Amino acid sequence: MRTCRICDSALTEIMSFGDMPIANGFLTSLEEKEFLFPMTLHFCSQCYMVQLGETVPPEAMFNGNYQFVSSTSKAMADHFQGNAEEIQTRLKNVSDPFVVELGCNDGIMLKHIAQAGIRHLGIEPSANVAEMAKANGVNVSVQFFNKATAEKIKAEHGQADVICGSNVFCHIEDLNSVFEGIQVLLKDGGVLFFEDPYIYDIVKKSSFDQIYDEHVYYFSGLSVAELAKRHQLQLVDMAHQDVHGGSMRYYIQPGSQNTVTERVVEWIQKEEDIQLNDTRGYEKFKDSVNAICRDLKTMLEDIKQRGDKVVGYGATSKSTTLLNYAGIGHDLIDYISDNTPNKINKYTPGTHIPIKAYEEFQQDNARHVLLLAWNHKKEIFAKEKDFRASGGRFITFFPEVVIE
Ligand code: TMP
Ligand code: ZN
Repeated sequence: MRTCRICDSALTEIMSFGDMPIANGFLTSLEEKEFLFPMTLHFCSQCYMVQLGETVPPEAMFNGNYQFVSSTSKAMADHFQGNAEEIQTRLKNVSDPFVVELGCNDGIMLKHIAQAGIRHLGIEPSANVAEMAKANGVNVSVQFFNKATAEKIKAEHGQADVICGSNVFCHIEDLNSVFEGIQVLLKDGGVLFFEDPYIYDIVKKSSFDQIYDEHVYYFSGLSVAELAKRHQLQLVDMAHQDVHGGSMRYYIQPGSQNTVTERVVEWIQKEEDIQLNDTRGYEKFKDSVNAICRDLKTMLEDIKQRGDKVVGYGATSKSTTLLNYAGIGHDLIDYISDNTPNKINKYTPGTHIPIKAYEEFQQDNARHVLLLAWNHKKEIFAKEKDFRASGGRFITFFPEVVIE
């Protein structure tokens, strides 16, 4: 029986997705052999942590060739600039503060901290994106973070006033070791904050495409409060973020006697209202995911049968889950348009749909577009105003399949 990575209790399986490729495993040639793993989602009824069953070795995902680059979207760039401003405000009265970011990617956030002349260190295990961060003027150390690395950073730089991480904590299987490192590195009165896709949004919208190999954990206030407690830390605040289809930022401080905001109480109540502390909440989720997949595939088949074509918009990591689980391949999607240079002319993992440059889409007369990058809908709809005005239509699918 599988046990919880956080507390060792027995896990309950919520859902099985079958064999899945690596979400970011875009293929250069169709001859390449793909790594597949049986993807399942599990729930711990002791500490409430939702987590993958099997995982993929981190070396297979976050290596010298990691293809997810943060700075491809203007909205995300703005979001991270906002995070940097919040850190600066918090540190206004601290002398010689020290900021550590775990998983700093291409430096999208930390470059603002560097520009403000604040002592900082980014920890980034993927060498290629770490190089981009360095080019952005950020101090980076290429390694994984744990208690041993925390000890070394502390010896060299002293303790941190702020430790943060965006879309990185959910990636780290041995999260207890990261929290042990945080216990070492975080100053008394300092703050850890991290944000990741929020399981409340995933369940509310049935947006199951957030579930893929890189995301080992799907956090809630319920589970993060328990995790913090195990490491003599305390969840003190929560702030909802409108990115990645709904994320939550958790604020954590050392000790157990800090002031806890009303927002924490309210969010945990909302989580309990949809039974995120109970397997029943997840059973309903599974049923609506299956209904969406059926509806979407039927709609695409109908369009195809009429002799029209459908193209995809945004070769996102998360679309690997949607396309593979719903059984949507090159037979239903002509190609996917993407503006990330290193994805162009590659093929989607598992489903082998060609990825083309945005310019090809602009010159195309496709009328139906499957909005795979649905989390960037606002930005994309603004950009594609003319396409929509001239009769072009986007197909979206969470919380239900709609043409708009
Ligand atoms: P993300 O949701 O994981 O950030 O991935 C978004 C993907 O969509 C990324 O590959 C870039 C692509 N994209 C476009 O092609 N055009 C756009 O306008 C936006 C916002 C994203
Ligand atoms: Zn547990």
